[in-house]
Amino acid sequence: MKEQEGPGGPPKPKRAGFGGRPASSSSSSEESGEDGGEPQEPAEELLADDATIDLVADRAKAGVDEVLAELDRELVGLLPVKQRISEIAALLLVDRARRRFGLESERPNLHMSFTGSPGTGKTTVAMRMASLLHRLGYLRRGHLVAVTRDDLVGQYVGHTAPKTKDVVKRAMGGLLFIDEAYYLYRPENERDYGQESIEILLQVMENDRDDLVVVLAGYADRMDVFFKSNPGMSSRVGHHLDFPEYDVKELLDISGLILAKQNFRLDPEAEPVLRDYLTRRREQPRFANARSVRNALERARLRQARRLVTAEGDVSKDDLVTLIADDFLGSRVFDGEPDDESDTDAAGRPAEESAEEPVKESAGG
Ligand SMILES: Nc1ncnc2c1ncn2[C@@H]1O[C@H](COP(=O)(O)OP(=O)(O)OP(=O)(O)O)[C@@H](O)[C@H]1O
Ligand SMILES: [Mg+2]
Repeated sequence: MKEQEGPGGPPKPKRAGFGGRPASSSSSSEESGEDGGEPQEPAEELLADDATIDLVADRAKAGVDEVLAELDRELVGLLPVKQRISEIAALLLVDRARRRFGLESERPNLHMSFTGSPGTGKTTVAMRMASLLHRLGYLRRGHLVAVTRDDLVGQYVGHTAPKTKDVVKRAMGGLLFIDEAYYLYRPENERDYGQESIEILLQVMENDRDDLVVVLAGYADRMDVFFKSNPGMSSRVGHHLDFPEYDVKELLDISGLILAKQNFRLDPEAEPVLRDYLTRRREQPRFANARSVRNALERARLRQARRLVTAEGDVSKDDLVTLIADDFLGSRVFDGEPDDESDTDAAGRPAEESAEEPVKESAGG
């Protein structure tokens, strides 16, 4: 299980009188976040009926613009996803504004499903979403707890409920991200413990929706099947975000972002080679979109290092930052095979976490 504060450190809570309805559940009160935020806060004074609210200023003040701009800057493509996030932000701003006039309504349903192929940015966007919801006052802590079936489901009778409840408790006040959620449901084994976990999650998604946002992630087709067999889950999800595969141009842009961040650059002659590499890699098995780009660059760095260390003569700063065509041409992708270290393992899961991903935390401690 991975736990992660929102990017850019924990933002200041901005929830006075806004979305921060008192949490209704008993379990959430045990988990006062490290920002010391007890869920209950005195409601802000109601506005008079003839008052007005400057939503644009509100948006800026809550840091919504900042999160959206960052999302736009740091994530290539994903237009439908970005648009949807901005719509959700608008919905919540209006909801907050209504609340300030005392206009009661149910809190918008914020549980979501993120569907798409590996490496399309689901986990990354979930982290941004947690931060956004925190800034808007809909999440107390705004952290992300990322889990898979193994973190939720036990091995023997009586093991699953405490496991799932422990995860839920850790996620309270934040976003619970369940990767490959469909593995919770195994109809072929009628005594599978996954069902027990689903039941608990269903309850929590209903009763604790003021203090926890659940995101179910995975491949679109398997998620479809999962939702069809679990209508309770389906009906609790308010927003479906679909993450499209990246085209070659987007993959190149992603490599540009990654390289710039790490103080590398491509030799002009390496550019068409990388394009060719990505065009080929995209058609091969176990392609994992942006993650494959990251891995390709890692391997090019290895070849660069080997090249520089074995080269005669001194090495300049320019040499150290430049990846040349040969650094890519050494790849087996050009022999029609995926690179030796594949981007995902046999089960189609990522082979390794990139340095940028949330820090691993043991599920027990
Ligand atoms: N649109 C993008 N622009 C730039 N970098 C991206 C983009 N999408 C993903 N990445 C980078 O690619 C890596 C993989 O992304 P992420 O882990 O979010 O994908 P994922 O959809 O969760 O994959 P999986 O389904 O395999 O868990 C991360 O390092 C992320 O920063
Ligand atoms: Mg992921």
